[in-house]
Amino acid sequence: MTLTLADAGAESPPEADDGTWLACIECGATFPPFEAVRYTCDDCGSLLEVRYADPPTLEEFAASDDRGVWRYADALPVESGVSIAEGDTPLYEVPTIEAETGVADLRVKHEGANPTGSFKDRGMTVGVKVAEKLGVGRLACASTGNTSAALACYGARADTQVLVLLPAGKVAAGKVAQASLHGARILEVDGNFDACLDVVSELADRGEAYLLNSLNPFRLEGQKTIGLEILEQFRDGTGDLPDRIVLPVGNAGNTAALYKAFRELVAAGSLAPEDVPALTGVQAEGAAPMVEAVETGADEVRRWEEVETRATAIRIGNPVNAPKALPGIRETGGTAVAVSDAEITDAQRALARDGVGVEPASAASVAGLRKLRESGEIAADEQVVCLTTGHLLKDPDAAAAAGAEPEPVPADTEGVLDHLGE
Ligand code: F0G
Repeated sequence: MTLTLADAGAESPPEADDGTWLACIECGATFPPFEAVRYTCDDCGSLLEVRYADPPTLEEFAASDDRGVWRYADALPVESGVSIAEGDTPLYEVPTIEAETGVADLRVKHEGANPTGSFKDRGMTVGVKVAEKLGVGRLACASTGNTSAALACYGARADTQVLVLLPAGKVAAGKVAQASLHGARILEVDGNFDACLDVVSELADRGEAYLLNSLNPFRLEGQKTIGLEILEQFRDGTGDLPDRIVLPVGNAGNTAALYKAFRELVAAGSLAPEDVPALTGVQAEGAAPMVEAVETGADEVRRWEEVETRATAIRIGNPVNAPKALPGIRETGGTAVAVSDAEITDAQRALARDGVGVEPASAASVAGLRKLRESGEIAADEQVVCLTTGHLLKDPDAAAAAGAEPEPVPADTEGVLDHLGE
């Protein structure tokens, strides 16, 4: 079974709780949402997604005065979250990059403006609330850094124990510092992110902890609000909807979440299938299994055992949400492209030049846009949104390496003027 643009509406099955249930994306089996801890289908082991009897329209959201993730409460599985004002991030104009790439309109949705500096907060405000509802004792995730920072923060807020598994030596300093200060127990694993996820998934299956990676269908519901916010903000700014959204891809959770947001708007009758923005994924060359699948037309993504990139947030070889995200790219007329670390650093500098400070993985979106403009796959008349997923300060070492060197000077004015050559 493939997730299509027209299949998000359905009659409530008997398992539904207040119009909400879990459905398997492969075999269609349905389950009650909050009766037991469940990440995958009991029958076939595939991914689950949250379903709603009555998904709301964009017009219904427009009637709300609330801002941020909970503006979209009617599209979420719980009425309120463990919340510290996540979402409502800026949609920036980036005049220099817009002129250079020569697209009709370019905006940057900066998710680095979330409370812990990445889009993960949108998922955690929902996921940690569901964890409370399920009454679990310990929360856990594998992470390239941002998920661990967000889970540590929201877990602290919910007064729940947090365990995070990080690939040793491959997580940017800002992220480890956040997980540490918010009080998570940090396990540094001798292996990459995919190995960390294997271990933590098994811990979760054994009932040792509640898993808050993007395999968790509730977390992706919160991340869905990125797509809803982009449509509302872009329309407010330009009177139109964007033709394309370009985003970095690791586990492909965001790609899956944006696709789900748009499928539900189609089901609600407020978006025509042909108006859904083309989802365009970008990976680093050294960790590009999704790009490989899109290029070869494969139905399944091959796990890359060896991965490497300076953009450590997306140093991932086994994108677990591929079964949800590949149809999203294909059904919306999108594509996927790989970029080099040098292209990522260059895009990070270009964003900084336009006043937007991002971590390397985020800049992959702009690097991908540049590449697809050069190849002609993105046309000059397109209105494009690039998603930047994390704040510059997440990876201070990468920022310092990409920027200018500090210059030592003596502690007197004449010496400083001499140095400046004035
Ligand atoms: N950008 C940033 C800054 C990220 O931290 C991640 C994922 C992605 C992009 C990719 O998003 O997985 O939804 O395709 N970070 C996860 C983590 C893996 O552990 O923080 P995706």
